[in-house]
Amino acid sequence: MDQPRHVPVLLDRVLELFAPALSGKPAVVVDTTLGMGGHSDALLSAHPELTLIGLDRDPQAIEMAGKRLARHGDRVHLVNVTYDHIAEAVHDLGHSRVDGVLMDLGVSSLQLDEEERGFAYSKDAPLDMRMSKGTGMTAADVLNTYSHGDLARILSTYGEERFAGKIASAVLREREKEPFTNSGRLVELLYAVVPAASRRTGGHPAKRTFQALRIEVNGELESLRLALPAALGVLGMGGRIVVESYQSLEDRMVKQAFAELAKSKTPPGLPVELPGHGPEIKLLTKGAELATEQEIEDNPRAAPVRLRAAERIGEPR
Ligand SMILES: C[S@@+](CC[C@H](N)C(=O)[O-])C[C@H]1O[C@@H](n2cnc3c(N)ncnc32)[C@H](O)[C@@H]1O
Repeated sequence: MDQPRHVPVLLDRVLELFAPALSGKPAVVVDTTLGMGGHSDALLSAHPELTLIGLDRDPQAIEMAGKRLARHGDRVHLVNVTYDHIAEAVHDLGHSRVDGVLMDLGVSSLQLDEEERGFAYSKDAPLDMRMSKGTGMTAADVLNTYSHGDLARILSTYGEERFAGKIASAVLREREKEPFTNSGRLVELLYAVVPAASRRTGGHPAKRTFQALRIEVNGELESLRLALPAALGVLGMGGRIVVESYQSLEDRMVKQAFAELAKSKTPPGLPVELPGHGPEIKLLTKGAELATEQEIEDNPRAAPVRLRAAERIGEPR
């Protein structure tokens, strides 16, 4: 792609965090969320000896990033899988451990821009929202078949939507008349149900419902729950992991996964660390790092980002 439609989020910081683990050696990095290959392209350019394994569940992302990264030749290996398959992908390509893992979670601008995939509430399109095109349940299936309780639960948990119960009731009422097919009708319903006063603080009335449906349709949290230990498991000594999350449930999962491995398992009170009980990783970020105001101005998609990074300092326990 000559003109990428998207600027990689916190690119300079990502490059800076990976540099000590990749510089001056034939390192291997897994970009678990290849997207349009923006981060990958910059990593490959910055480290001429680097081999990159790129994963994405979206075949279209693999195809487009493949074209963009073709100039790096056989240093690039792309695999169309969900990121919880990271260990198989690494082993199948003949590696046991890697020097870096990048996870830039969520949807890509490419997916948001493609109207017919139904991710964007600003356009009337089929309620699809599947990142792995053509497989599994669509957002329309969720709206048309889930019970009131399940709908309210996903809206409240994944969307942090205060009006989850009211929205679920309205969806059940509407689908009795006719099943949902397109986003326009759902957006109209949300305008009617979400009180106008809450828009001043909560943003567009459809924002949280669309986020919740997308997370449910793609099993995003389950995939991340499996992927975090798998990603940390393939990280070699001195290797670094960088995760960019865009909503609080994801960030909390990353924070907890890192905190668990950064803790010593030596019983408190012992004067020395017991062999095999020391911390596995060291945190490289203090809390979660945010985008600067300037970066948000240049790239509004960076506004919600929470970046956390860690380095392996001990063997897996
Ligand atoms: C925010 S974009 C990545 C953008 C990329 N860093 C760049 O610079 O172009 C996230 C990508 O992750 C992919 N993705 C989301 N969940 C995934 C999962 N569970 N497994 C693999 N890929 C996933 C999406 O299909 C999307 O292409």
